[in-house]
Amino acid sequence: MEVRLAVLPGDGVGPEVTDAAVRVLEAVLDAEGRSLVVDEHLMGWTAVQQTGLPLPAETLEACLQADAVFLGAVGHPDAADAPHEQRPETGLLALRKELGCWANLRPLRVPPSLVEASAGRPERVGGTDLLILRELAGGLYYGEPRGVDGDRAWNTMVYSEGEVRRIAELACDLASGRTGRVTSVDKANVLEVSRLWRRVTQEVADARGDVQVNHMLVDRAAMEIVLNPRQFDVLLTENLFGDILSDEAAVLAGSLGVLGSASLGGRKDLYEPVHGSAPDIAGRGIANPLGSLASMALMLRYTLDLPGAAERLESALDGTLSAGIRTPDLRRAGPEEPVGTEAFTEAVLGRLETSYAMPADRAGGAE
Ligand code: IPM
Ligand code: MG
Repeated sequence: MEVRLAVLPGDGVGPEVTDAAVRVLEAVLDAEGRSLVVDEHLMGWTAVQQTGLPLPAETLEACLQADAVFLGAVGHPDAADAPHEQRPETGLLALRKELGCWANLRPLRVPPSLVEASAGRPERVGGTDLLILRELAGGLYYGEPRGVDGDRAWNTMVYSEGEVRRIAELACDLASGRTGRVTSVDKANVLEVSRLWRRVTQEVADARGDVQVNHMLVDRAAMEIVLNPRQFDVLLTENLFGDILSDEAAVLAGSLGVLGSASLGGRKDLYEPVHGSAPDIAGRGIANPLGSLASMALMLRYTLDLPGAAERLESALDGTLSAGIRTPDLRRAGPEEPVGTEAFTEAVLGRLETSYAMPADRAGGAE
């Protein structure tokens, strides 16, 4: 069966990491007896320059026709003074909105091979396995009214009970397949919207009974992520807090380049690495493809319903890292000379090939 993937490489390092991700997905699907059809389209600043818009209509249309969407990265220094509707980020937010994705999963594991690269203390971060669940369709990013008038500008953080309820339900579902704990992060000591968030989240958990929810203020959570990340299982939070906390959490695994994401719940699922377009290293062949490859593993699991393939890919990523193969952003992970995007990708492909050459029940031990 054919998988049709809409691919939006975007800006900066986006095309490089996208290329890596598509090669790896193609290899996995091939081994699974499926074929991949890639439909590539313009997005971000690259799209603005060619069409005047960061999300051209034909790009959106292609995404709606596809089985899933993969996005590399958007953002460019030249866009700093562009009008709101021509900013690359505006295109990304419109894409998430149009697809209807409201649940953003950002899983973070700190494998032993990355403990040395961590921005945190090795004895505190090793074994961290946390899933950030970021609400993606509401809050300050989309709230009305918003605007600017001379020397004043404003945005609105707004959530309805329904919006909180659906993401809280999902947090509980995800937690019940893990260790059964949800930490819901808010700013309920100051914000009305957070008090509503806290009440509804608690109601959802009480009604189920299989999951334990505790509530944490966002400033405290920012501290706890560094001090004691192993306490978290599913970390549920609203849009802006999730944006901020996920960058913080990523550097626990050594670099922003390692985190992948899945945006679910809408008409089509959207997969993108958490990192940005990194214009300072774009075109140099040294971008870390891990975030993109981890996103592909999520796509295999959540959209393509190939959990075995997702596990093979994840263990190929782990195996590559623990063999000391890593890009320069993870230099601190060990003494080996870092490799480029392409060599890292080749190493992953080699491990996948080995994995598929042996029976499924032994593949997990391929490394
Ligand atoms: C992210 C990014 C985006 C966001 C930007 C590029 C609009 O930082 O996915 O974390 O803020 O959601
Ligand atoms: Mg972000």
